[in-house]
Amino acid sequence: MSPEKPTDDLLNIEHPATGKKWELPVEDGCLRAVQLRQIPLGQTDLGLMSYDPSLLNTASCRSAITFIDGDAGILDYRGYSIEDLAESVSYPEVCYLILKGELPNRKELAAFQAELAEEAVLPAYLLELFASFPDEMHPMTMLASGLAALGAKYPESEKVLDEENRNKQIIRLLAKTPALAALAWRRTQSDSPVGPDPEKGFIVSFLRMLLGKPGEDFEVEESFARAMDALLTLHADHEQNCSTNAVRVVASSHVNPYSAVAAGCFALHGPLHGGANQAVLEMLEEIGTVEAIPAFLEACKCGDRRLMGFGHRVYKNYDPRAKVISGLVDSVLDAGQPDPRLEIARALEAAAREDDYFVSRKLFPNVDFYSGILYSAMGFPASMFTVFFAVGRMVGWLAHWDEMLRDSEQKIARPRQIYTGHSRREVPPMDKR
Ligand code: SDX
Repeated sequence: MSPEKPTDDLLNIEHPATGKKWELPVEDGCLRAVQLRQIPLGQTDLGLMSYDPSLLNTASCRSAITFIDGDAGILDYRGYSIEDLAESVSYPEVCYLILKGELPNRKELAAFQAELAEEAVLPAYLLELFASFPDEMHPMTMLASGLAALGAKYPESEKVLDEENRNKQIIRLLAKTPALAALAWRRTQSDSPVGPDPEKGFIVSFLRMLLGKPGEDFEVEESFARAMDALLTLHADHEQNCSTNAVRVVASSHVNPYSAVAAGCFALHGPLHGGANQAVLEMLEEIGTVEAIPAFLEACKCGDRRLMGFGHRVYKNYDPRAKVISGLVDSVLDAGQPDPRLEIARALEAAAREDDYFVSRKLFPNVDFYSGILYSAMGFPASMFTVFFAVGRMVGWLAHWDEMLRDSEQKIARPRQIYTGHSRREVPPMDKR
C-alpha cells in the first residue's frame, strides 16, 4: 500500500473583526506556516505565527527514506516493509537501501561491503581515549564521545556541501561505529579490545569485537548473528524521531557529521526515547513476579509509573518492530537460558492489552518492549541496549543528514517563541535590589 498523496487544496481564512480574507494554499496536506505571516496582528510586523510545542503536528522537512502509518502499524524503508526486510535482507543491504534508495545487486553489495571493510579499523588515539574514561562512565556516553573525537581525524568532513566528501564520511561512520560500540562494551568490562575482522562480514565482525577473545578464533551462535542482524535493521530508521530530529537540527548549522551524530546519541540516550529498552528491563526486574503485575499497572494508571516500552507518538497500533523482535526472542532463548523476565513481559503485555486505560489510549508495545530481553539473552547488560540502538540507527541519521543537505528548502534551524517574560525595565542599583 503506497502512502496516499493528499490532494492540494486552498484554505480560506476570514478575520471577522476586519472582514479581511486570505486564501492560503494547502500542499501535501500541509499549510506552510510562513504563509500565516501575511495575516497581520497589529502588535508585531511578523504577522500570525503557528504554535506547536514539541512539534506534535508540524512537518519539519520532506523525506523519502521511511514511511510510517501509525494507525495501521506500517513501517516501510524506501517502500519495502520492515517485516520483509528483517526476514530476508541483511543489515548491510538495508544500509545500502536506506542510503541510496534501492536494494543493491550482488556487485553493488560486494563493492559497498569492501568500502566498509576498508574503513573498519579505528585510529589508535581512540583506544587511548577510551582507556582514559572512568570505570563508571556509561557506554552510551563513551560512544558519543568517541564519535565526536573520531571527527578530529577527518577535518575535511567540515566540507558538508561536498557530496563526495559526505559519501566518504558516511562510509567511515557506518564502518567505525560498531568498533566504537564494541570498544565501549569492552571498556566497561575492563577487557582489552578485539579489532574488526571484516572478512567475516559486518555482523559477525561486530559480534567478534564484542564477544571475541584477543588472539583466539571466534565462533558465533548462528541465532545470535541472525538476531543482531535483524535488530540493527529494525532500528535503522524511523523518520523524524527525537534523535533524528536532533541530528538534523545540529547538522543544519553545517557542523561536521561526527558532531551531529554524537548529538543524536545523547538524544537517543533519554529514557523516553532509545533509553526505554534499558528502562523496560529495570521495570521487569522491579516487578519481579507475574503476581505483582496488577499492582504495577494500577500505579501506571494513576500516573505514579510509566509502562516503559509501551506507547508511541506515532504508532496507535502494535509497533511492527515489536512483533518481529518478540518472534526473535524465542529463537535466541532456545539457544540460551530461559529468561524469567520474558514470562513477566508476556504477562504484562497481555494484562495491559486487556486494560481499558491502555486500550483507550491506544498504548501498545513499541520497539523497546522486547528488545532488551533479546540483547540480554545474548549476554549483554541493559547499559548496552541503547548503544546497540545507536549502531542500528546510525545509517538513518546519516541518510537524513545527506537528504537535508540536498534539500534546497532547508536552512539553519531557528524556531521562534512566544515571549512570556518581563517587559523592558531599568537596572536597579545594588542597594535597591
Ligand atoms: C522510541 O519517535 C520514535 O519513532 C521513537 C522510536 C524510534 O524508533 O526512534 O520509535 C523509539 O523512542 C520508542 C518509545 C520508547 N519510549 C517508551 O517506551 C517510554 C514509555 N512511553 C512513553 O513515555 C510515551 O508513550 C512516549 C514518550 C513514547 C510517547 O508519548 P506521547 O506521544 O507524548 O504521549 P503522551 O505522553 O502525551 O501520552 C498520552 C497519554 C497520557 O495519558 P493522559 O494524559 O491522556 O491521561 O497516554 C499516557 C499518558 O500519561 N501514556 C502512558 C504511556 N505512554 C503514554 N501511560 C503509561 N505508560 C506509558 N508508557
